[in-house]
Amino acid sequence: MSARLVAAGTAAGQPWSSPAPEQEQPWWRSAVVYQVYLRSFADGNGDGIGDLAGLRARLPYLSWLGVDALWINPHYPSGGADGGYDVVDYRAVDPEYGDVSDVEALVADARQLGLRVVLDVVPNHTSDRHPWFRAALADPDCPEASRYHFAPPSEEPPNNWRSLFGGPAWSRTPDGRWYLHLFAPEQPDLNWRDPVVADDFERTLRFWLDRGVSGFRVDVAYGLYKDAGLRDNPGEYSPTLFGHGPEQAMTWNQPEVHDVWRRWRSVCDEYPGTMLVGEVCLADLDEVALYSRPDEMHQSLSFRLLKSKWDTPAFADAIGSALEAFGRVGAPVSWVLGNHDKDRMVTRFGGGETGLARARAAAVLLLALPGSAYVYAGDELGLPQAHVPDEARRDPIFLRSNGARAGRDGCRVPMPWNATAGVGFSPARAAKPWLPVPAEWRQHAVSRQTRDSGSVLSLYRRALAVRAEHPALGTGEATVATDGDVLTVTCTGGGRTVRCVVNMGGESVLVRSSGQVLLESGPGVHTSARSVALPPDTAVWIAD
Ligand code: GLC
Ligand code: CA
Repeated sequence: MSARLVAAGTAAGQPWSSPAPEQEQPWWRSAVVYQVYLRSFADGNGDGIGDLAGLRARLPYLSWLGVDALWINPHYPSGGADGGYDVVDYRAVDPEYGDVSDVEALVADARQLGLRVVLDVVPNHTSDRHPWFRAALADPDCPEASRYHFAPPSEEPPNNWRSLFGGPAWSRTPDGRWYLHLFAPEQPDLNWRDPVVADDFERTLRFWLDRGVSGFRVDVAYGLYKDAGLRDNPGEYSPTLFGHGPEQAMTWNQPEVHDVWRRWRSVCDEYPGTMLVGEVCLADLDEVALYSRPDEMHQSLSFRLLKSKWDTPAFADAIGSALEAFGRVGAPVSWVLGNHDKDRMVTRFGGGETGLARARAAAVLLLALPGSAYVYAGDELGLPQAHVPDEARRDPIFLRSNGARAGRDGCRVPMPWNATAGVGFSPARAAKPWLPVPAEWRQHAVSRQTRDSGSVLSLYRRALAVRAEHPALGTGEATVATDGDVLTVTCTGGGRTVRCVVNMGGESVLVRSSGQVLLESGPGVHTSARSVALPPDTAVWIAD
């Protein structure tokens, strides 16, 4: 028996310990947030591109599903070099998606349905088509130039920094200067040491908060500031599985960035009920947690589960270490199993029937854990990673590596809504979706799955309903233990205990229990007076 026990929750006596249980918890601490990849969710006007009108029309689906909020990937006018993460105007809407009044209408409709809307904000870099960068290209001495990182012409780039998308992090301007881009060349990095940058982002936050949004997912929140001397990074460029470490010490995680989050937090504090959730890709989870101290962002996405292989030590470590690290700062863990940057979990977990069974079990685990859960659009349908033909690929990771890296298009393919030829993504059947949808995806369509009580969609919906009824799930505290291939998360809350037991192995196992099975991730679970038999790759919730 290789049991490992991890205490969860806040450390008693810390000045920042979370509110007493009898106090009402803010919504975001245990919210299930549905991530909408706007371009691929629903096309309202028939041009093959998802948009705000399409999303608005599908809000009843999200309410039926039972999530609490939606986070929308960038909706801003963009250069289109990185799926909207190259922003041209932060206080506007890309005409492909609609206009500002569509955001207002979306927020209003969502509110009617009890759903909150969270936007994506991209403060590390702009588009190279942003008016500031354009001005800086035209005139090296203009005030806008100091809002980016430019270096005078020279043979070699100013330092050894690498772009996350491949190649050096420096490119040349037409007049021979160097400029910094830690992502694509079309995404010049902002210089946060120029106070105009910070002031402008505060205006952006207020612009959207004034329109009723409930907060922001903050892109590359571990970036923004760079080493003041732009010194070489000490090590080879080799991010670990879990993110960047000391070898990238000059590019990421500068101490000054925490002051940005303190300022943003105080802005949000003026708008009750709003929150910030950061993308912080650092190898050291304790460093990640620092971004969610009580006066900084409300939470930081925890990517450990997303990056864990299907076995009990990896999952137990992912869960235990996140509970510990975030517990120490009094922040809830924001669990993630899928997003627009990673292969779909059905495929990550082995594909086919096995991958699907594991993805179902993983979802049941995700929705039991204390904290908030982020569900990526399409994961509730059990979508696999799609095959996208090379000529249709758009991701700069694919294009910049000349195809050596597959990139992220396969998890960004439009949603199948019905079983017709166009899968109901666009109103006009003839519209060509911006990324091709595999013909066999009709079998995954929402319309089919809503009618099938054994579908992945029905499982998610049931799980969300049960979670809402049991304070032990999502709002409780948890311990995690393993016994061979069996992972058990024991959740307590509201005076009750619910165990989530996952059989991650290839053999059936018998779990001792006289409790009630609240939910099972797949078929073949047998309950007797004293035990529950769990088939391989299956999870259950048991109320003891
Ligand atoms: C984040 C986004 C990713 C984007 C990158 C650059 O990691 O999730 O999609 O490419 O930032 O903005
Ligand atoms: Ca459209």
